[in-house]
Amino acid sequence: MVSPTIIVHGGAGDWPKSKQAAGLSGVRQAATRGFRLLQQGESSIQAVEAAVLEMEDNPVFNAGSGSTLNLVGRVEADAGIMDGKTRRGAGVALLRRTKNPVSLARLVMGRTDHVLLAGKSAERLGEAFGLPKVNLRLPERVYQWKQAKRRLAKGFHGNLSRNLKLIRSKGQSILGDTVGALAIDQNGDFAAADSTGGVSLKLPGRIGDSPILGAGLYADNRIGAATATGVGEIAMRFVVSKSACDAMEGLTAQQAASQTVKRVTKLAGRGLGIVTLDRKARYGVAHNTRHLCWASLTKKRGLVSQIHG
Ligand code: GLY
Repeated sequence: MVSPTIIVHGGAGDWPKSKQAAGLSGVRQAATRGFRLLQQGESSIQAVEAAVLEMEDNPVFNAGSGSTLNLVGRVEADAGIMDGKTRRGAGVALLRRTKNPVSLARLVMGRTDHVLLAGKSAERLGEAFGLPKVNLRLPERVYQWKQAKRRLAKGFHGNLSRNLKLIRSKGQSILGDTVGALAIDQNGDFAAADSTGGVSLKLPGRIGDSPILGAGLYADNRIGAATATGVGEIAMRFVVSKSACDAMEGLTAQQAASQTVKRVTKLAGRGLGIVTLDRKARYGVAHNTRHLCWASLTKKRGLVSQIHG
C-alpha cells in the first residue's frame, strides 16, 4: 500500500507580507482537508477536488469566490481536473457564477464525453446537476480592478503582449495566481486539479492554462502528476505540466520541476510556477516568480508549508 500524499499550492506571484499568514493558513487547511479524505481511504480525485474547493471558497486566493476581474470588470473563472488512473480529465472555462468551478470540471470529466466546456452552456450543465451558483464578484476584487484600470489609463492600451508586459512590471496587483492540488492515494492512483480567476485585466473571452490538460495540469499513474501556476500563456505554449510529467520518467519530482522551470525561463522569461508529485510520493516545487505559496501533507513528514521565495 502506498503512503497517501497531497501537495497543494495557492499561486505563484508576489505574496505581500500582509497576505502571507492568510495564504499559508489557506493552503494548510486545503492540504488537511484533502489528506483527511486520503486517510479515510477515499480516492486521490476526491482529495484534490476537496482541497481545490476549499481554496475556491477562501477569498485570499484568486479562484472561485476570490476570482480576479477581466478588463470589463467581470469574473471569467477556469478550472481543470485529471485522473491519473484512467487518464481522463476535463476543464471548464469562462464561468461567471459557478461557486466551485473544480466541481463542474469533475462533472464534465465524469458525466460527459467532453474534455473542455466553456461559458453559459457549461454553467447550465452545472445547474442541471445542482451545483451552487453565487455572485463571484467580491468588493475587494472590484476595488483592485478599478486601481488596475487607472494604471491602464495612464499609458497602457491593451492587447495581449502588452497585457503581459504590464503583468510582469506590476507584480501581484495584476499577476494571475491559480490554486492547485496533486495527490496519490493508498492504491497508488494520482490526481491533479486546479482553479483560477485567471489574469487580471485579461481580455473578455480569454482562457488560461488551468482548464487545459497538459498545460495547467496532468496526471498519469505510470509517471506522476504536475500542475502549473503563473501566466497561463506561458504554461500553454510550453505544455508545462505534461512536460514536467515526462521529465519524471527519469528524474525525481523536484528535479523535474526545477528543470521545467529553468528551460521555460530561458525560452519565455519569468511568470511560471510548477508543483510535481512522483511515483515514490516525493513532491517538487519550482518557480521563477517572487513567491509560491504551498503546503504538503504526508504521514511521515506531517504538514509542511511555505511561502517559497
Ligand atoms: N494560470 C492562470 C491563468 O493564467 O489563467
